[in-house]
Amino acid sequence: MTLTNKLQDTVQFMKDKGVADVEFGLILGSGLGELAEEIENAIVIPYDEIPHFPVSTVVGHAGQLVYGTLSGKKVLALQGRFHYYEGHSMQTVTYPVRVMKALEAHSVIVTNACGGVNTTFTPGDLMLITDQINFMGDNPLIGANEEEMGPRFPDMSEAYTLSYREVAKKIAEDKGLHLKEGVYMGFSGPTYETPAEIRFARTIGADAVGMSTVPEVIVAAHSGLKVLGISCITNLAAGMQKNLNHAEVVETTERVKVEFKSLVKETLAAL
Ligand code: HPA
Repeated sequence: MTLTNKLQDTVQFMKDKGVADVEFGLILGSGLGELAEEIENAIVIPYDEIPHFPVSTVVGHAGQLVYGTLSGKKVLALQGRFHYYEGHSMQTVTYPVRVMKALEAHSVIVTNACGGVNTTFTPGDLMLITDQINFMGDNPLIGANEEEMGPRFPDMSEAYTLSYREVAKKIAEDKGLHLKEGVYMGFSGPTYETPAEIRFARTIGADAVGMSTVPEVIVAAHSGLKVLGISCITNLAAGMQKNLNHAEVVETTERVKVEFKSLVKETLAAL
């Protein structure tokens, strides 16, 4: 079955559920899914009901799509994303972005929890993603290219839309929020990085490291979607603090979620 055929099934199912006129896709990372609870007139669809949708397995991810209005915009939120380290193919990980595009979204907002590599970062910081490094060892566009989806060789020069970054910065400034900025480097996981990998990451220009986002943004670029990316620095990366664990990641997102939600909502209103 081609991607186009799968998408037709999924889109038809979603339309039958009442999903229409999506403007923004929202991908909510670990511990950041609560934002979807603020969506008005929500239509909630568990992933396991959606044709061709995988099921997410990570603790702290709800595993459902939420459609409705947020900050006056029609949004389709992914409450819990799919990760490469769960064993999904890159095509599966990025399928929801294809669905967003097929439902006529013009933009996606991607969020994640990640480790801070830049020595000026502190756990709890929010970081506007300016660019990314694909170090996952794979690419969702490998294989035959369906030309109606996008070009064979997509340009990644401005994967994170400059005008959106400017809006987010202005909103943060008005709120008195110290929004950091930087390059997100994607590792496959599920291991956290080694201290040596983190020194390497810093040397090649990364400010933060994580296990998601990169494939989704590649597919967004391929599809011609505009992108806003916001990371929550949940910990300092390996070698920069004592040890790393998922509990700390969850604790930090819990601590900053009010700030995170208001930044995303106010930026969304202004886009
Ligand atoms: N590394 C990779 N992924 C992460 C980290 C990290 O330090 N923190 C949260 N997600």
